[in-house]
Parts: sequence; structure tokens; C-alpha cells
Amino acid sequence: MGLISRHSIDAVIEANDIVDVVSSYVSLEKKSALNFFGLCPFHQEKTPSFSVSPGKQIFYCFGCQKGGNVIKFIQEIEHLPYPQAIRFLADRAGITLEESEDSQWKERFERQNLAYEALREAARFFYAALESPAGVKARDYLAGRGIDRRLYRTYGLGYSPEGRSELYQALADKKISAEAMLDAGLIRKSEGQSYYDFFYRRVMFPIMDSSGRVLAFGGRAMTDEGPKYVNSPESFIYHKGKHLFGILQASRSGSQHWLLVEGYMDVLALARAGVTHAVAPLGTALTDAQARAIRRYVDTVHLLMDNDPAGREASLRAGTILRKTGLTVRYLLLEGAKDPDDFYQSYGRERLVAALHETLDRSGFRLAILNQDYRAGLIRTENEFRDQVLDMLAEEPDATKREIYGGQIAKDLQISHRAVSEEIERRRGLQSGSPEGTASSGKEEEVSSKTKRMRLSYYNEEDIMLLVLLAANNRAVSQEAGIDRKKIEDYSIKNEVRAFLLSDAVGRPLDSRDFTPGPMRKIAAVALEDARENRLTLAGLHSIVDGILAGDDQEPEGQVRKELVDPDRIHSLIQQLDQELTDSQLTADEGKRVFEQKLIRRRLSIWRNRASRLNQEAKKLELEGSDDQAQTYYTQAAGLLTAADTLRMILQGDDR
Ligand code: UTP
Ligand code: MN
Repeated sequence: MGLISRHSIDAVIEANDIVDVVSSYVSLEKKSALNFFGLCPFHQEKTPSFSVSPGKQIFYCFGCQKGGNVIKFIQEIEHLPYPQAIRFLADRAGITLEESEDSQWKERFERQNLAYEALREAARFFYAALESPAGVKARDYLAGRGIDRRLYRTYGLGYSPEGRSELYQALADKKISAEAMLDAGLIRKSEGQSYYDFFYRRVMFPIMDSSGRVLAFGGRAMTDEGPKYVNSPESFIYHKGKHLFGILQASRSGSQHWLLVEGYMDVLALARAGVTHAVAPLGTALTDAQARAIRRYVDTVHLLMDNDPAGREASLRAGTILRKTGLTVRYLLLEGAKDPDDFYQSYGRERLVAALHETLDRSGFRLAILNQDYRAGLIRTENEFRDQVLDMLAEEPDATKREIYGGQIAKDLQISHRAVSEEIERRRGLQSGSPEGTASSGKEEEVSSKTKRMRLSYYNEEDIMLLVLLAANNRAVSQEAGIDRKKIEDYSIKNEVRAFLLSDAVGRPLDSRDFTPGPMRKIAAVALEDARENRLTLAGLHSIVDGILAGDDQEPEGQVRKELVDPDRIHSLIQQLDQELTDSQLTADEGKRVFEQKLIRRRLSIWRNRASRLNQEAKKLELEGSDDQAQTYYTQAAGLLTAADTLRMILQGDDR
């Protein structure tokens, strides 16, 4: 057993999120925006004083004052010495540690240090070149873009001169080896065995880590010739998916939130306006690792990507990744300009700084984009515009926001708010089959809304999950839905709603009415029959699907449906869900509970869909003048929705 390399230790810490690790020992609750709390595992206590910070990746107990990083936590809780704790975590994350008894890692460590040194010296060289007489063209270029000497310093900008081996010569004079320069990606070897510089005749942007170490460079051309940017190659020091341009300056800004922009020049344009808390991924889409790097410093990110289709798309994607990392995300859309730099040039500092306050939530951002496209004539008719807005709002998981934006759009288009709300809810039902929004909230980008709508209107995951659970345990077919009657009795709701919730309609075992009408319901009917005879298997389920979908062909509507219900999708969903089920290794009791919950959730979705159909029907009746009949439908719909809400709250209480 030898020494574990620094690099490996970093990798272990990086791969073991402290919240995940601690959660397997302590039940944590998010008490504040920044921290999780739980009962301290290291001393006796009744109220939680043990905190975990996902941002800083540390734990600390306010009671017993124990604290540290994830390795320290494992040392304490597993009673392991330091190296064993690292090994424990490496195993947990499936990482192979670099360790050696000989000098191997030491050599590597040394080699890394030499490469860092070469990079640091290169940054100095470029910086000096920018200030030298030879740098006049670069200075002019930067001046033309509004970047002055103050910013050269803050961001360590530089210039790589015309000659093909000036950097090599300068570093060689400083006794830096060619190996170190090669490792650092600063030079290349030609066929004639001579060395030449990787960068020349470019404005240089050093890419640093948060401790100020130079890792790589980006070099911008000063003319339209050749590639606009050239970036250092990836190396054992530099991985473009892990680092962010501007992180050093942002971490020193003291700001509680950071801006995420597209490129070097956006970071600089903002710095020019006095805003140094902007960072940019390095020419690629934002990665999880970059999101985690940001989360070490702040808990909120404002996205400010280019205002073009690619930039908007990148914003939405980055938003999803950041949110997944636990960050709060807001969106910015600079109207009348392509990017922050462009905006500054056109409107000046004050308006840029003011615009940074106009943050939007995700739906607000998407709505602003649609509005912009409509005004620009990219969306041609009002019908088309309305259609896109309604589809978009139907994907908003937050009901209050749907209401607010729905109201706004109703006003803009001069239609009744109620009609808009209903249409949104109707589309929502079509989109997910589950109006709770579980299906659409985080996944919008993965499945385009159009394919999702087609796919899910004829079945959804819940349908299939129920059947997979049933195949795993045929007896569930006669199991009543697990509702805590006591809780329903105690709940303060209208008597009719209570009576409904306690009735057979809610508590009855699974039957084919719990499935999406159409082919899915037919599949379910056969599967339920088999389960009752205790002979439903997973293989059987696959063949039932094929049988029904093939037979469905014969019916008039079948052809259409066949396109909508892709049997391969269903087969793969069955496999996938079964795999998840197997992986989760539920005990019989847990399995029973899961089944009961899924069953209830399914019913809940169905009520909501029915409520929205009733509302629509009522609306029609109202227009036709049958107010009384309409009123009855409205009341029924409201009852269903209340029932669904109540049950959902009871279930959620159960979940914790
Ligand atoms: P942009 O083309 O938006 O560049 O690319 P920019 O930073 O705004 O620069 P200007 O204003 O046009 O001078 C965004 C980012 O994509 C990467 C760079 O990181 C750039 O900052 N990129 C772009 C490259 O790596 N190579 C390229 O050729 C272009
Ligand atoms: Mn740009």
C-alpha cells in the first residue's frame, strides 16, 4: 500500500457528493437555501444541529463541533484511518486510485508542477508582450472592443507574438524544459524535430482555476482570417469540461450569485461594466462538473447566453443541469442585442447593468422568446403564436405560474382568462397524462414536446409501471389501494369529498379503468386477467403487448394508433422499469406499499383529467345557455380536484 496521489484524492472528493454520502447515514432535511440539517451521528441530540453544505462540500455540527469534508466524515463514522476512508469512498464511486510505493506518482506530481510552472511563465510572457511595442496591434484590437489596461490586469490578458517560436525561446531561456512545455500544450514538435509555438498572433485569455493557477489559454484572432479562437489542447492538467473562464475573478467578487455567459468576450464585456461575477464554459455546453464547481461558491446562477436560437437552447439546457445540481436558476434575455458585448456597445454600461436585474423564471424566459419571435415575424400568425404559448405553459409544473402567465397572455390576446387556463390544463393532460407535472417538469428538453404529446396520449409510464409491478407480484391484483382512512377522516374537507375518498371507487383494487383508454386499456385487461390466474410474467406481458397492438391494426382507428403507440418503446419501457424494480431490491412489504402508491397516483391523474374534461363540457354548456347543467359539471370537477389535492397531500405526508 503506497501513497495515494493528490490527483486521486481530488477525484474521490469530486465523485462523492457529501450530501449523498451523509444521507446514507443521517436523514437530512433542507432547512435553508444553503444547508441541509439532521440529527448529529456523533453525539446524542433531539433537535438537529448537524449541517451539511452542498456548496462547500463540508459538514459541521453546531453541537459537538465536529466538521470536515467527505473523507473526514467517513473517517469518523466508519472509524477508519485517513487512507482507508479514501479507499472506502473510491470503492463507493468506482474509482481506481493512483498509488505507488515507488516514485511513480511523485514523478507525475513533479511533472505536473513543471507544466504549471511553464504555463505561469507563458502567461507572464504573453502579458509582457501585450504591453511591449510589438503588442500594439493587440492593444488596438482590444481598445477597439472597449477593453482597457485595467482589464488586462484583472484577467491577465496577453498577446502571442508573430514569430513561430518566440515563446519557446523565452521559456527555454528561463530553463523550462521542452517536455514541460509539451505537457502544458504550449508548443508542438515539427517533423524536423524543432519546436514551434502553439499560439501566435493572437490575443490571449488565460484560463485559471480558483486558486489562480494557469491551466490553459484561449487565443483570439485579431482578423477574420483563420479560426476565431484557438484553445489549448486537453492535457492531464486541463479538461475543458471541468473548468470555467473567469472563476478566479468571480470567486473574488463576493457576489451571492454568478452569471453564466457563453464566452470569453462576454465575461470581459461584463467586467467592463464592473460586473466580475460572470463565468463562461470553454466553448462547450455546460457540464455537471462545471455546475458543481459553481455550486461550491454560490447557490444561484443567472443565465445570460447569446440571444440566438443556439444560445436560447443552451440556456435551457444549462438551466436543467444547474437545477439538478441544486442551484437556483434565473434567466436573462437581452433584447435588441446578440450578446452582452453587443448590448454594451449598443446601449452602454448603465442599461446593461439595469438589464441584469430583469431576471425571468423558465416559463417567463420562454414566453419572452416567443414574444420576440412573434414581433420579429418569425412566428407568423396570432394562431400559431397562441398555440406555441399554450403548449409551452402547459409544460410549466407550477400551477400558480400557469395562472399568472395564462392571465398575462389572455390579456395580451384579449381572450378570457378562464378559456386560457382551461386550454392550458387540457394540453397539460394530453402532454403528461398526469397533470401533476411529474412527467414534464425536468425533462422538457429530453423529449420534444410534440413527440411526448403523441406518445403519452395513448399510454404513459404509470400504466406500464403498474403492469410491471403486477408481473412481479401477481397477487397485487386483488390488493386494495392503501389509503390511510384515519387520515382522511381527520382531514378537514367537505363531507362529500370525504365520503368519496372513503368509497370503493377510490379504495378498490386495480382494474382496467385505471389505464389510459385505447390499446393500453386492452393490454391491461388481458394482463389483469392473467394475474388473477396467477400466471402473468414479464415475458407474458411483452407478448400481450404485441398481440394487442397487432390486433389493433384491424380496427379503423388502429392504423393511426399504431403510429402513436410504438411497441418498441413499450417493450423497452417494460425492460427498463423492470430493471429499476430489480435494482431497488424491495422487500415484499415495501413492494406492496409502492404498488399501492402507484395505484393511487394513477387514480389521482385520472380524476384530474376527468375534471378538466368536465370543465370543458361545462364551458360549452354555459355558452349554449344551459347554466344549471354547466354548474353541475363545474361542481363535479371542483370536487374531483379537491379530492385529488387532498389525497396527494395525504400521500406526500406518507412519503416522508
Ligand atoms: P463566440 O463566437 O460567441 O465568441 O463563442 P465570443 O466570446 O463572443 O467572442 P467575440 O465577441 O465573437 O470576439 C463563444 C465561445 O465559444 C468558444 C470560445 O470559448 C468563445 O468564447 N469558441 C468560439 C471557440 O472555442 N472557438 C471558436 O472558434 C469560436
Ligand atoms: Mn459571442
